[in-house]
Amino acid sequence: MAAIEWTNDLSVQVDVIDEQHKMLIKHLGDFATAVASHQGPGAIISTLDFLIEYTNFHFEEEEKHMKRSSYSGLEQQISQHEAFKKTLADMESDFKEDGATHELAGDIHTLLVNWLVTHIKTVDVEFGKFLAENGIIIRNEI
Ligand SMILES: [Fe+2]
Repeated sequence: MAAIEWTNDLSVQVDVIDEQHKMLIKHLGDFATAVASHQGPGAIISTLDFLIEYTNFHFEEEEKHMKRSSYSGLEQQISQHEAFKKTLADMESDFKEDGATHELAGDIHTLLVNWLVTHIKTVDVEFGKFLAENGIIIRNEI
């Protein structure tokens, strides 16, 4: 299973979002590593749980910033995020019901990587452009 790394071509030119995308990719990598190193189903599922938790956090953050900046692409983002969350939840239940096979884990990983890369490069990048065009700077809150 090909590991994914954050590279500059995934930048949306917004530091806060890029940092979160790096964390998402790290969680995806942890999941891939758990599968590749033949860890047991419990360990694999726990990396998937971390990935789901972080995904939820990240989507909420993105949507919050989009709302605050009155971004017109918000609805499209929400529907893509919701669809992805459903895919993740369905996968996790398949995984729990059918057993954590390496084949299934590999399919999950490929699908997640493809979705994430496509979403970042086509949809998130538009939000970055919108922020730049309107001179809006978003920051992490402490
Ligand atoms: Fe997004």
